Order: sequence, then structure tokens, then C-alpha cells
Amino acid sequence: MTSRRTFLKRMSGAMLTAGAGPPAWILGSTEGETRSIDVPGEEGMIVRSYRFLDLEAPVEYFKTWITPVPHFFVRNHMHEPSELNPADWKLTIGGEVEKSVTLSLAELSKIDAHEVVNTLECAGNGRSLYRPQVPGVQWGKGAVSTARFTGPRLRDLLQRAGVKTTGKHVMFRGLDEVPGKVPPFIRSIPMEKALDSDTLIATHMNGAGLTKHHGSPARALVPGWIGAASCKWLTEIKVLEKEFDGNFMNPGYRFPNQPVKPGDAVKPEDTHVMTVLNVRSAIFSPREGATVKGSKVSIHGTAWAGEAEIAKVEVSTDGGTTWGVAKLGHEQAHYAWRLWTYDWKTPKSGESIVMSRATDKGGRIQPALPLWNPSGYLYNAVDQVKIRVA
Ligand code: MTE
Repeated sequence: MTSRRTFLKRMSGAMLTAGAGPPAWILGSTEGETRSIDVPGEEGMIVRSYRFLDLEAPVEYFKTWITPVPHFFVRNHMHEPSELNPADWKLTIGGEVEKSVTLSLAELSKIDAHEVVNTLECAGNGRSLYRPQVPGVQWGKGAVSTARFTGPRLRDLLQRAGVKTTGKHVMFRGLDEVPGKVPPFIRSIPMEKALDSDTLIATHMNGAGLTKHHGSPARALVPGWIGAASCKWLTEIKVLEKEFDGNFMNPGYRFPNQPVKPGDAVKPEDTHVMTVLNVRSAIFSPREGATVKGSKVSIHGTAWAGEAEIAKVEVSTDGGTTWGVAKLGHEQAHYAWRLWTYDWKTPKSGESIVMSRATDKGGRIQPALPLWNPSGYLYNAVDQVKIRVA
């Protein structure tokens, strides 16, 4: 029987195309969309890369508030660990602490678990929509999904080790298999976010143990922040005096301090580490290019805003001239997206541009144009689909 790893390796050899631009460990490969081959257990997902598995959710998978695990996007910078036996797995907590602590999975499972419904979004979601185009995984709109994550609070683990007053940042190291000279996946978050009661060491997703693609047996879950903050296959937590300065913090996952003219280069010293997600919405029905019939058509979508909550979603059916307010769905949680619907009295037949624009409770509103940046991060322009009324 062919194992998933062998299958993926074989696909990697057959399908990999050369990427261009910044190193692959920062931006990933530049393979195009293909649905011709399904990854076992992940049917229907858009394969953005086989080499290091990157799977995008088609927008129709946004229709449930909680995304079933096989429909949840996957973003890997490297190979997933091939040999990872949960019985042998250990998590160490060290650095600027009174005493280092090592926990087995059985010991971790005895610590009080907390649940957080979180919309996880990759900072590169929507990268393919930037003009001029930028190198990196050419994500469409589906590097975002929502799940119920459960596990002990990070602060409870840090309390066991006793954080020294010198401890200001918390670093996570993943067990990815690092090919060649690629640096390991290590990032850090500030102590304030680490001590937040909703920052978890998650062992479960939607009520079941984490699957391999999503970081089993344990991952960090940093709600409302870019997906890269939530380190998978966690093996080490280290308290640091300063922010970690490795490749996935610098030059990776940084955003320009000032608006950039599309196409211009940005000096590394004019950038900062990305943390919270933007306010954003997406229309999942009707789909781009669809033909709709009838005098009334329901437009469906979702909206999220990282650490903030959604205040309202507006919809335009005339290309942005006039806007009406959408009805928000009942299901909600602090860091989770909000489904919405808008009933549209359709005009006479012809083409229409339908747009959605979200505003969050902090007053952020989706812009008409995205803030272009050389790595194509944090795309959040007003969403739009072109449809035909029959
Ligand atoms: N953790 C490790 N160890 N290695 C990785 O490549 N990718 C990060 C993050 N954690 C990554 C990781 C990125 S960029 C994202 S967007 C999320 O995991 C994606 O999580 P998911 O694959 O469970 O959707």
C-alpha cells in the first residue's frame, strides 16, 4: 500500500515546477491550481503545492461556520514529520524560567483544557489577487478556515515553569523535516499574547485529536493572529528576553511600515513583524461566473477580523455605487468568522458585479484597494464576483 508520504513525494517529483523570487522557505512554491489529483483524505481541496503540502479550500467550503477538518486549508513550509509517535513525543518549556519542564502527551492531557473557536488565516491568503503579482504560493481566497480548537492554556504551562522577570517573548519550535539548508520553523510571540487566556497548546480540533496535517499531537493556537503564529508539531516552548529573530520572523512574515507603491521594493528596516489579521469578507455563493435565475437571489458569504468582532457587512450589487446591509448569522465567537446573507431583488437580465465589504467593531473597514506589499501578505480588498442574471 502506498503511504501518504510516499504518494506526496511521488507527486512532488512529477508535478513540481521551479519557483522564482524569494527563498521557498519563506514564500513557498509557485505552483498553479490543480484539482486533477486529490490528496487522500482531503478530497475537493485545491492543491497549491505537493512538495510541501499546501491545500486551499474552494470558497464553497466556507458555507459551514465550523469547517470540517478535511475541508480545512493546510499550509506547510516543509515536510511534515514522517516519524512522530505520540507515545514518544515530549514538549519542553525552558529558557527564561525558574525550572525547565518536560511533558509527555499523557501529562499534557491532564492539564485543564479550554476551547476556542478560531478562524485561522494564512498571511498569504489572497496573494494571487495582488497586481502586480508577487512570488510565493498563489493562494486564491481559501487559505482560511474555522475550527473548534481545544487544549491547555499556554499560560498554565508557563506558570508550571515559572517565567522569570526577564522573560518577554515566547518561542515555538516545530518538528518539521527540514530539507537541505532550509531553516527550522521557529517563531515567537510577545509575552502579553502568550499569557492571554485564549492562547492554547491545542491537541484537538473539532472534538478529535489533531490530524498530522494540522500539527499532531500538539500545536500552538494564537487566536486572531496570522496562521504562522500557530506553530504545528510543537516540540519546544522557550521563554526569551527578546523577540526571536530567525527566518520566519525576519525576513519572513513582515509587513511594510508605510504604504508602498505597487511594484516597489521595501528595505527590511522599513518593515515589522505581522501579528493580527485584517478585517475581511468573502462571497461564497453565487460563485464567480455563475448564472442566476429568479426575481430574488440570496447572496451568501462570511466575514472575519482577527482579534476584533464583525460589526457589519455591506453588499453592493451595482459594482460599488450603492450598498445594503447583510444579515449576520447567529453563530458567533470572539475569534471566529460570521456567516451572512443578503437578499437581492435582481434587476432585468444582464451582468452584475456583486461586492461585499466588512467593518469590525474597532472601526476597521475593508478598503477598495489592498495595501500592496512585495510578499503579498494580508490581502483584504472588498470582495467581488461577476455574475449573470438570466
Ligand atoms: N508550523 C510548522 N511547524 N510548520 C509550518 O510550516 N505553517 C504555519 C502555521 N504553523 C507552519 C506551522 C502557517 S504559515 C500557517 S498559515 C498555519 O500553520 C496553517 O495551519 P494549518 O495547516 O493547520 O491550516
